[in-house]
Amino acid sequence: MFEKITVVGAGNVGATAAQRIAEKHLARTVVMVDIAEGIPQGKALDQWQSGPVEGFDTRVIGTNDYALAADSELFVVTAGIARKPGMSRDDLVKTNAGIVQSVGEQIRAVAPKAIVIVVSNPLDVMCFVMRRATSFPPERVIGMAGVLDTARYRTFLSDALGISVDDIQAMVLGGHGDTMVPLVSYTTVSGIPVSQLLAAETLEAIVDRARNGGAEIVGHLKTGSAYYAPSAAAVEMVEAIVHDRKRLLPASAWLQGQFGLSDVYCGVPCLLGRAGLERIVEIALTDAERTALHASAEAVRSVQAIV
Ligand code: APR
Repeated sequence: MFEKITVVGAGNVGATAAQRIAEKHLARTVVMVDIAEGIPQGKALDQWQSGPVEGFDTRVIGTNDYALAADSELFVVTAGIARKPGMSRDDLVKTNAGIVQSVGEQIRAVAPKAIVIVVSNPLDVMCFVMRRATSFPPERVIGMAGVLDTARYRTFLSDALGISVDDIQAMVLGGHGDTMVPLVSYTTVSGIPVSQLLAAETLEAIVDRARNGGAEIVGHLKTGSAYYAPSAAAVEMVEAIVHDRKRLLPASAWLQGQFGLSDVYCGVPCLLGRAGLERIVEIALTDAERTALHASAEAVRSVQAIV
């Protein structure tokens, strides 16, 4: 268990993540910081009071002041605006870059040794902004996207196959957007290549639905974007780090030559443990997958140029 984990942004993703962190006993104290007055305080009190029912002793504290986040071992950053129908994640870039920059400067001031998991969108570019603002090494600034994109992909595969999600192994790499790269060649069902179990057209339709999974939800909600699966995905990464589990999960990492890519954040297989991003695992890709990964990284780079 960590002493203190801070969630920045007490909105839909942040508050749900804070609740999940408490319920999973991942920290003695969970701090929620937000600029909105009263919101983090009220939500934190409400969450703290669920402890006796849910069986956790974690103290949940809401505040507008980063002083209470001092010395947190880990931050989950969800501050920013969310998408509305018709918007791409990239449309959020200017607003959220300013927000993530200021959050990063505060984190650096109060917790210079922390690990930061970024959730704000456009994800890969917000990781770049966070790293610039904190000057933290690449192993301590990681982005949550691949776990979510993979969860969506695995959900739809499970549904089409009529087989438990537990038995579906997959990875989605690339930037968190329309160019994401589901690795069909590495998708297995209890070790069996998925191509032996589903027709190519069915697989293609599933890949497409996973790619547009976030937009499908925004289309229904109209006033905001997904938060149950995004918060669950972020907390899976938190758990891997807190318990030093050495999980191999797709996450956005600063690339310095891996997969032939440099100076860009992009989703790749990451070994997560107590030190944060402990290793990027390079795997062989088909020509088509490699081309798609490079195109996705270039799409991230073009948005990165704006900030
Ligand atoms: N510092 C702290 N919190 C901030 C700041 C800031 N500078 N600016 C905005 N916030 C807070 C808002 O007050 C709000 O409470 O961030 C919160 C965002 O919450 P929601 O609007 O509910 O958005 P949410 O659905 O949680 O998404 C947050 O995560 O998945 C991404 O695309 C999504 O970028 C978005 C982010």
